[in-house]
Amino acid sequence: MTDLFSDLSMRDRTARNRVMVSPMCQYSCPDQDGLATEWHRQHLESRAVGGAGIVMTEATAVRPDGRISTDDLGLWSDAHVDALEPITAFCEESGALSGVQLAHAGHKGSKRPPWEDSVPVGPTGDGWVAPSPSADAYPWREGDDERSDDADVKHVETMSTTDVEALVDDFANAAARADDAGFDVVEVHAAHGYLLHQFLSPVTNRREDRYGGSFEARTRVVREVCTAVRDAVPDEKPVFVRFSATDWLPDRDSWTVDDTAALAADLASHGVVDLVDVSAGGLHPNQQLPEMGPNYQVQYAERVREAVGGDALVGAVGGITTPEQADALVRNDRADLAIVGRQHLRDPYFALHAAQTLDREDAVEWPRQYR
Ligand code: FNR
Repeated sequence: MTDLFSDLSMRDRTARNRVMVSPMCQYSCPDQDGLATEWHRQHLESRAVGGAGIVMTEATAVRPDGRISTDDLGLWSDAHVDALEPITAFCEESGALSGVQLAHAGHKGSKRPPWEDSVPVGPTGDGWVAPSPSADAYPWREGDDERSDDADVKHVETMSTTDVEALVDDFANAAARADDAGFDVVEVHAAHGYLLHQFLSPVTNRREDRYGGSFEARTRVVREVCTAVRDAVPDEKPVFVRFSATDWLPDRDSWTVDDTAALAADLASHGVVDLVDVSAGGLHPNQQLPEMGPNYQVQYAERVREAVGGDALVGAVGGITTPEQADALVRNDRADLAIVGRQHLRDPYFALHAAQTLDREDAVEWPRQYR
């Protein structure tokens, strides 16, 4: 029977178990250059030592204006490759696959880190003009339904069709650099209200060119980005995509679980993605959050898994905190991979501890230094 400690093979990469460290921003490039620092090394490498099958970086910007905050990680030059390479080498040495989540924040970018209240910064300060599918569509402040006119936040600009085409190239170039840096897996971040999700949702996409309007048109850039990333990465390495399955905006025309299932099935059936990582929400401050208890998003992963029907693997994320929960997801065929976020911040050794709890110590090896 397949359980949490069964191997997971994707193309010619094999994860040693079904636990992935969820991408989590660290806001730890204080020089604002997007270069990985000692903090990223410690953070990612200790989770590789801790037994996870796949260690995924935080949202890593494909270009400077793709960062969420000024202090985010990036992958837009060879210097970024050099800064990340020791991390992928260490993951390999520790038996973990390394993954990088490629991202563009769109109109949610150009902010200070959360511990500085995520205040928006414009191009006259440390920030930049943030590209967006439709610059008028995002309410910056909780409860606003139209974008504020406040001078501070007037740094959002609608992308031209040519800008969108350039974005596809930026993702492809970053994917090629990810390969150079030694990453085993490349994940496209199309969730949580960031740029690609902004294109998917009719709430934030009011374009009238070929990237806006119908489902086909709104999903075009994601299909182009995923295809370009697939083409930029060698055949033996898997490509993942993360979606927000729903905008959690049931009272208006928005991105839904059925939309996600249809897009995931399309990408999977064309062999463009190997795994769909199913999250939710983040597009709009008026989202109606469900109870954030255990497994709060797993139902969406199940729906997507049904839709892709074996053409791709599916990962579940959200409120997975115990070994029993993670194991049951895999054993009961609800998901192929348990993606664990905050519990990995509390316990870098989540996977090794899970093996103890689940009586599967036969399936793991503690580092010899710790045995
Ligand atoms: C996140 N999350 C997140 N998601 C993502 O796709 N890219 C990212 O860079 C981040 N950054 C981030 C930072 C921090 C500090 C947290 C806590 C979360 C979301 C994360 O990957 C995950 O989807 C959620 O935290 C839900 O999973 P857990 O934490 O309930 O296991």
